[in-house]
Amino acid sequence: MVIGIPKEIMRGEHRVAATPETVGLFRADGYEVLVERGAGRGAFFSDEQYASAGARLADSAESLYRQSDIVLKVKEPQSRPEHGDHEADLLHEGQVLIAFLHPASPANHDLVRRLAARGVTSLTLDGIPRISRAQQMDALTSMSTCAGYKGMLMAADQLSRFMPQIFGAAGMIRPAQVLVIGSGVAGLQAIATAKRLGAVVHAADIRPDAAEQGKSLGARIVALNIPPELALGHGGYAQHLPAAWLEKERAVLADIVAGMDIVFCSALVPGSQAPLLLTGDMVTRMQPGSVVIDISIDQGGNCALTVPGETVVDHDVTIIGIKNIPGLLPSSATWLFAKNVASLLHYMTENKTLRIDRQDDIIASALTTCDGRIVHAATLDVMAAREGQAR
Ligand code: NAI
Repeated sequence: MVIGIPKEIMRGEHRVAATPETVGLFRADGYEVLVERGAGRGAFFSDEQYASAGARLADSAESLYRQSDIVLKVKEPQSRPEHGDHEADLLHEGQVLIAFLHPASPANHDLVRRLAARGVTSLTLDGIPRISRAQQMDALTSMSTCAGYKGMLMAADQLSRFMPQIFGAAGMIRPAQVLVIGSGVAGLQAIATAKRLGAVVHAADIRPDAAEQGKSLGARIVALNIPPELALGHGGYAQHLPAAWLEKERAVLADIVAGMDIVFCSALVPGSQAPLLLTGDMVTRMQPGSVVIDISIDQGGNCALTVPGETVVDHDVTIIGIKNIPGLLPSSATWLFAKNVASLLHYMTENKTLRIDRQDDIIASALTTCDGRIVHAATLDVMAAREGQAR
């Protein structure tokens, strides 16, 4: 079987789905590997390195897609305006596609329908369950780690003040005060990064476990006083708070936010719109020169003033809504992503062939389209709800 690694074409995307190291792993599993020329350039891997690891090089995306049985990508298929078509048009019946498809997001519903109609078997990496057996394949966690680290560096870079305490002949500069809202994977990495930079870090989360983990990294925990039975839903994940409790949470956060130099927003309820935790009024009470970074922007954002994809200044507070932060850390993000995907492929390989075992819980929860149909439960739920609303 042939694995194809195309060049990512989304603007600003420098990651790629395989490294020369994982090409070697695929070869050891019995696959042939085809890499589009220049695919690794953004992550600083040369064509020669891929070729030395045993890959063949394809001169064009068309040739790569035509020859591949399995296509590994970072981002979901994109339109190709310069060719007047779409990457999905290059996929053929029976081909397997593995990528971040975010199929439940309404913006990708047409794409998912298109993949089903073309007879493509697709698996979405955001469907890999966060269970210990699947940890090595969990690209979502890897990318959140990148976003937590790089996002905090971006916020520190925009801050008008020092992060650490500084002593000099002129006197002492106090350390920056940082609040991380939502101490999941990204938030915990943001806490660790801000601590390393010398800031005083505060953390707020509605899950008791997350508060414990934040504390173990040296953060001061903000007591939100949300009853655990309201905060915790299926599988121990956070769930949406009733409106009155969200209001109470905002009231607790308001006074704390006013004293912060950086507010890092990474609160998310899986499969749902991000909770609105920072109102415009709360931001305007922050000191001039402070920074808000809202990495939950793909799910609607935690801050009312965030502009998707942009960095704006409002009432002298810089608000960062940059998307695709892992793409700004291309070497490390690619290294992690490629390892995760290689683990998934190894897991699915039997006798040098890829096996789609729909009884396996990891595969079942990532499988998006198969046998000409959409099979991803969360996607079907969102589609049905939207059709119900339209009626
Ligand atoms: P996660 O699910 O591990 O963590 C989210 C945390 O938010 C959980 O600990 C949860 O308890 C907490 N939370 C939920 N409701 C809350 C509330 N009302 N108040 C306080 N905390 C609350 O998610 P992860 O992986 O850490 O990702 C966080 C966000 O970062 C997501 O929106 C994700 O899409 C985004 N992200 C953005 C990237 C980018 O490039 N912009 C890249 C990777 C992740």
